[in-house]
Amino acid sequence: MSLSEFGPDFLWGVATAAYQIEGSPDADGKGQSIWDTFTHRPGKIADGSTGDVATDSYRRFPEDIALVHSLGFGAYRFSLSWPRIQPDGRTVNHAGLDHYKRVIDSCLGAGIEPWVTLYHWDLPQELENEGGWTNRDIIDAYAEYVAVVGDALGDRVTNWMLFNEPMSFTMLGYMLGEHAPGRRGLNNFFPAIHHVHLATSAGAAALRATATDPVVGTTHYLTAAKGSGPGPNLAQRAERAANAMLNRAFLEPGLGLGYPVDDAPILRMMRRYIQDGDLERCEVDLDFLGVQYYTRLRAPFRPIPGLWTIPGFGDDPEVEKTSMGWEIRPEGLGMVLDMVNAYERFGRIVVTEGGASFPDHLVAERVRDSRRIAYYESHLAQVRAAMDRGVPVDGYFCWSLLDNFEWAAGYEPRFGLVYVDYDTQRRVIKDSGYWFAEQLGGIATPPA
Ligand code: FCB
Repeated sequence: MSLSEFGPDFLWGVATAAYQIEGSPDADGKGQSIWDTFTHRPGKIADGSTGDVATDSYRRFPEDIALVHSLGFGAYRFSLSWPRIQPDGRTVNHAGLDHYKRVIDSCLGAGIEPWVTLYHWDLPQELENEGGWTNRDIIDAYAEYVAVVGDALGDRVTNWMLFNEPMSFTMLGYMLGEHAPGRRGLNNFFPAIHHVHLATSAGAAALRATATDPVVGTTHYLTAAKGSGPGPNLAQRAERAANAMLNRAFLEPGLGLGYPVDDAPILRMMRRYIQDGDLERCEVDLDFLGVQYYTRLRAPFRPIPGLWTIPGFGDDPEVEKTSMGWEIRPEGLGMVLDMVNAYERFGRIVVTEGGASFPDHLVAERVRDSRRIAYYESHLAQVRAAMDRGVPVDGYFCWSLLDNFEWAAGYEPRFGLVYVDYDTQRRVIKDSGYWFAEQLGGIATPPA
């Protein structure tokens, strides 16, 4: 697999997210986020760590952007921390905006397109105290935040993503309690889903009203769930239910199709949160869809009527897994690209995340991560094949630029193209980074 097969106009980027890399939790008037709170609660993070320091990128961003450049990537996707910009979720903090102006200008100066995610999970704690995504008031708060950002940064950023993976943060943070803010149950999960839909369309409008010619998208975790059960019919039913809950419930309201109650009857409970006119209000015309794919999930049938099954990670002993325990299933990426393309509504698709964690070791200034290179080769072959089938994909972002704080899993999983020595914050380009650099015309070359 050679990257030249994608042609000269294909966009190559790397991605990060604020809480996973920035550190400096109190700098320049930042308010507390739900992740600041959550990581300091005992027992929530596998290795007991927090994002207090992370990769110290709040201070080291010039070095990080220089790395993006030397690896030859044309785009850097990063997120804005809402509580840096509105510490209490409402009052504007100009020092926070100024920081991101410097980050953006540093990208532009290096010839790198900034791709900005407006929400990558670090909600201001004060908004969570009012119910967070379960409280309908959050829609206005979010739209106001987006307008503040559009006003301040909309002259220098073109490409925007309203949300990172609504399925992940509502499921893990509001249904299962495994991520911040640690809420559980359908009566948190369902209103959160609905309010994120309404906030997506309100946010798109706010951005278009404030930023200069914005290209507005959002990103979704998409998965090809595999059903199982006693007999093919029940297995198929479980698979359809999982796909409805994990994929369709997050894609279809935005297309004006409402919630997929046909395959997931439990979604009828959403009624409680849907007000008159809401389903029309959810509809949003996006300039691109960000697809994020990591692995295939497993959806076993459960014999209790109406009870939807929370899918698990695949556990086929024959299938190679990453250090997250995620099955490596490149064909699933082709499947989700076909799935979104079948709606015939997404004129432009960008893979905004893909990548893998492996137990990397730094030995004599090299990290020989050949498994990561193989991961990218197999997944990129799926993207190329999907493009040949007519799926309009025109960009791919690696998760991640550098090793970072992997949420509830802490620092053990390493997803970077660049290795981070957390004791010294020294960055060392891995072989996968050199693999990209060589093909993208980057200047980084491995030590002899
Ligand atoms: C995605 C998240 C990203 C990172 C990767 C491994 O679901 O968007 O922040 O944690 O998984």
